[in-house]
Amino acid sequence: MRSFDGAYTVICPGRVNLIGGHTDYTLGRVMPLATDLHTRLEATPSDDVRVSSSAVETSYSFPTDDLDPVNDWVDYVKGCYAVLQQEGEDPGGFRGEFTATLPIGSGLSSSASLELAVMAFLNGAYDLGLSRERMAQLSKRVENDYVGVSCGIMDQFAVALGREDHALSIDTETLEYEPVPVPGNVAVVVFHTGVSRDLVDSAYNQRRETVERALEKLGIDSSKDVSEDNLDGLPPLERERLEYVVRENTRVQEAKTALEAGDIETFGDTLLAAHRDISAHYDASCAELDFVVEKAVDAGAYGARLTGAGWGGAAIAVVDDEEADSIARSIEATYRERFPEHDPHHYRVEASDGVRVTRSG
Ligand code: GLA
Repeated sequence: MRSFDGAYTVICPGRVNLIGGHTDYTLGRVMPLATDLHTRLEATPSDDVRVSSSAVETSYSFPTDDLDPVNDWVDYVKGCYAVLQQEGEDPGGFRGEFTATLPIGSGLSSSASLELAVMAFLNGAYDLGLSRERMAQLSKRVENDYVGVSCGIMDQFAVALGREDHALSIDTETLEYEPVPVPGNVAVVVFHTGVSRDLVDSAYNQRRETVERALEKLGIDSSKDVSEDNLDGLPPLERERLEYVVRENTRVQEAKTALEAGDIETFGDTLLAAHRDISAHYDASCAELDFVVEKAVDAGAYGARLTGAGWGGAAIAVVDDEEADSIARSIEATYRERFPEHDPHHYRVEASDGVRVTRSG
């Protein structure tokens, strides 16, 4: 519940990645959408920063020249100040309250959503003149340099630039993007496995190092520029990982073409192929995610795949709008039977606009 009405209201979505798994940190292609599930920030400019979050029931205050991390959610706020100050900006403080319909830690990018909410508020309230692309790049730096998570730009970009009823096809090297309409008769269901992602960071960093090493040996910056023939001299593991990324880049383009044509059958098949490939050759899935994906397809989904980093977290299923509830319930029932130790949950998400800031009064 909100207890505070700020001079500014920020609505900032999360994201779901439809396809393009583990391609962004090699400057490949991705196709995420911004979700209607969102973070809301009510904020009023002031000298220092005083923020609270109803989701975790904690509050923090700090002057804008005290930016030491404290290992909690407020680091995403502090990190925005740290990065903006490095850029020569000096926005003032604010009194703010965060509430959210976006579940925290469920693979829907609640951290990117928090970063962009703060970045967009500071940009609006203190006239920083930052474009959405720039805000996404700076928020990625909050993760990389301040929080210490070496993610790519997909999450921040989707959250900043999302478009209602559209996915975004993004070239993460040039940051050129194209909105791709999501047909109205299709629904996206996110199914969270209830598997926590404790080991994600180390596995993620390992994958990243492996493909970066491979690209370095090839002398190529973007995985988009690698062809299968380039890979011959690489050691087997580097080759297997990078080969997956190369195939995934191609699938993003195929999925985009299919979605544009309203060919949901082909779109769904491409998602399923992507999941099977990331599971077999990038080793980023787990038994629970594989189970959800296969059951979703058995239950009538057009396609399904893990979304986000993997190794637990969430999968998406692309389903007929009218069957969304029954398919989601059927997956959940079989999942609970097979994995009684986990507590799964599901959400239906709609493609939404990127972060919005409005000024009241
Ligand atoms: C996480 C990262 C993204 C991306 C995905 C995998 O969500 O934050 O940058 O690398 O994993 O596709």
